[in-house]
Amino acid sequence: MGPNPVWQAEALSEVMGLEPGMRVLDMGCGTALSSIFLAKEYGVEVWATDLWIKPDENLRRVAEAQLEGQVHPIHAEAHALPFAEDFFDALVSIGAYHYFGTDDLYLGYYSRFVKRGGQIGVSQPGLVAEYETLPPPHLAPYWKWDFCAWHSPTWWRRHWEKTGLVTVDVADQLPGGWQDWLQWNQACDQDAGTPGREEAQMLRTDAGQSLGLTRLVARRN
Ligand SMILES: C[S@@+](CC[C@H](N)C(=O)[O-])C[C@H]1O[C@@H](n2cnc3c(N)ncnc32)[C@H](O)[C@@H]1O
Repeated sequence: MGPNPVWQAEALSEVMGLEPGMRVLDMGCGTALSSIFLAKEYGVEVWATDLWIKPDENLRRVAEAQLEGQVHPIHAEAHALPFAEDFFDALVSIGAYHYFGTDDLYLGYYSRFVKRGGQIGVSQPGLVAEYETLPPPHLAPYWKWDFCAWHSPTWWRRHWEKTGLVTVDVADQLPGGWQDWLQWNQACDQDAGTPGREEAQMLRTDAGQSLGLTRLVARRN
């Protein structure tokens, strides 16, 4: 659904410490491709949690990947998670956390589901640096109001650290992230028979000046 979730899951997990048997929440997993990747690559047990994609649809994909019993599809809204506090060893979110996590108070709710010392990782569209009120002029023709939820690594570091609830170990941009994002859009546009759609044009015009994929990893204090 987002820019290739498996590439993002790979880049995020490279800077996390996932080990076999760990319990991992994949928050906003969409079609659960990142959940399947993490289960296969690291031998972790994943709760593939999403709002828009039905869990029975994800269960079919999980079964095809022969991961029933290791990847558990869950239907839940991000503010009403059906899990016990301290249940997970790690929380992961790919292309989704900015839909609910820009609220100052959200981390206080979300972080309670990971054990103390456990990891919280996010990868998603973001900015190289914050702008004041208007987006950079070269992006104005493409700008949609909800891009206001895209933020820079520095913004996210501050957003999380000011709660005092976590220690941020990584806040950066995925190396080559904007190229991955563009390549993904080009492939999707081609597949849909509509090459050169707006988002790909925007990414090509920007060429990594302002847009990229933001990566964050923190530990719960
Ligand atoms: C752009 S999609 C990304 C999905 C997938 N992780 C990927 O990268 O392909 C954003 C996902 O966030 C989820 N999402 C958005 N708001 C949510 C909320 N309030 N609670 C739970 N999930 C939410 C949606 O269900 C959707 O699947």
